[in-house]
Order: sequence, then structure tokens, then C-alpha cells
Amino acid sequence: MRTRQEPQIQVKTPAQLALMREAGLVVGRTLDVLAAAVEPGITTADLDAIAEREIRAAGATPSFKGYHGYPATICTSVNDQIVHGIPSADAKLASGDIISIDCGAIVEGWHGDACLTVGVGPISEELTALLAACELALWHGLAQARPGARLSDISHAVGASAQASGRYGIVREYVGHGIGTEMHMDPAVPNFGRAGRGPLLVEGMAVAVEPMLVLGSARTRLLDDGWTVVSAGGGMSAHFEHTVAITAAGPWVLTALDGGSSGFERLRAESRRPEAEQVKDTGAHQAPLAPAGAPPAS
Ligand code: MF3
Ligand code: CO
Repeated sequence: MRTRQEPQIQVKTPAQLALMREAGLVVGRTLDVLAAAVEPGITTADLDAIAEREIRAAGATPSFKGYHGYPATICTSVNDQIVHGIPSADAKLASGDIISIDCGAIVEGWHGDACLTVGVGPISEELTALLAACELALWHGLAQARPGARLSDISHAVGASAQASGRYGIVREYVGHGIGTEMHMDPAVPNFGRAGRGPLLVEGMAVAVEPMLVLGSARTRLLDDGWTVVSAGGGMSAHFEHTVAITAAGPWVLTALDGGSSGFERLRAESRRPEAEQVKDTGAHQAPLAPAGAPPAS
């Protein structure tokens, strides 16, 4: 019998995953174009227009537009905005800013969802490290998306990696999610927690893993627009996300143009470095660090 702790998770056929890959590629290519377009002076509304044009030119549909009334194709979250920032013609990017660009597309009813954070012109060392820590945590989580793992192995790997990178706030109120015929499906995928819990991952499942890290407290506040989530303490925030499928061959990162191979290669390179170098700040107030998830075989 199914218990409340075991949410029903949609299992896709290989043909359905192929359609999700198409959606993922549209998202990945659109994010590439957007990241290249980011420069001082461009507005987040300009980026939104580019995104909509790219997605529709690919024959796909933006998934965010109209989602619970959301008014745009992408979310653009600048500096202390954590997630779900609304593009605006008044929001002009300036050198030294960081911007998270979150994008979703639908192909023949199947969804892809991904996000990256980039600097606008040169950014501080502190922000460069924040972005790197968030992206690394994402890849540690993605590496756990394989048959036989438990859902919380992903969550644990994300959280442990973030903790090992520094004293970052890990956002708890917003989490990753199952994805398939809808953008947000069961299960919720937190970015923290103990390993070895929750549903067993099987071939054909797909989830969006999306850590959000803050310089300082990760407490959040919702702006009056009803969407934009900012850090309560004003700390700068990074957000990285990929949609990943669980396959017999291991994690297939559907929104990465190369399927994840270069991301996992970077993880393997990281794990070959001496332990002392990997853990930069164990933060005496924090829980003891567990090693972050091992990269997949092959
Ligand atoms: N990746 C974001 C999330 O899963 C996408 C939000 S779309 C929005 O929360 F329409 F809700 F903004
Ligand atoms: Co998402």
C-alpha cells in the first residue's frame, strides 16, 4: 500500500523521455543565448523577449507564461532576489550585478525547466565563489539521480556540497520538483536533508533539482507583486537548476546540451583534489560535513 511518505511519481517511457529531451534542449539553448546577451544596460524585459522568440522559433511553448497567472516567459532574479523575479523594462542590469535566469518550455506536452546565474560584467570574488558553490551543489545532486538511489540522496548531496563550499544560506522554503506532463509534480526535492530516505528512484523518473544559495541568511520574503522572492536579510543569491532523467545508464541531464557529460567530468576532477582543499570552511556552528555524493560510474 502506498503511504503518505511515498508520493506517486510519474514514470516515463523512453519515447516520452526523448520528448522531454527535446524540451530540455530548447531550454538549454535558450539559456545559452540569454547568458550571452547579458551585459550592462540590457533590461530583464529585453531578455524575456529574446527568450520567448527563441522558444517559439524552436516550435516549443514557454511554460511559465500564464502559469498561475505568471506574466512572462522567464524569471529574472537580480542580486538579492532569490527566485521568481518578474522581467521588467525598468530593470536595467549594471556591471557587478548577478542575475538568475529561469526558463521552461513545453514540447508536445512534455516539460523542461532550468536556471543559471551569471555575472553582469566583472563581479566580485565573493559572488564568483557563490555562483560556483551553487552550481557545484546542483551537479552533486544530479549525480545521485540514478536507479537504486533514494530521493533524499539527491537532497543530501546538494546540501552537503553547499555546506562544504562555505558558509552559505541554503534556501529551504523553495525546492526542486518532479517534472513531466506538468512543470511541478511530485516529489518535492529539498536542497538539504539526510541521505537514504524517501522514494526509491527508478528508470523513467525525472526531477528538476534547483539549489538556491544566499550570502548570509537564507530566510525569504515575498514582494508585493506576489511572485518575487528576496532574501530577508538582503544577501545576494544564486540559483542553478537542471531537469534530469533517471536512466539505466545513469543521470541524463535533459537541459544540458551535452546531456551532463562535462558537468559530471568536472565533479570527477573535483573529487580527485585533496580533501583539505575541497572543504574551505567547515563552519563550527554547522552540522559535521558528510562527503558529497560520489560521481556516477563511467
Ligand atoms: N524553476 C522555477 C520553479 O520550479 C520555475 C517557476 S515558473 C513560474 O519554481 F511561473 F512559477 F514562475
Ligand atoms: Co523548477
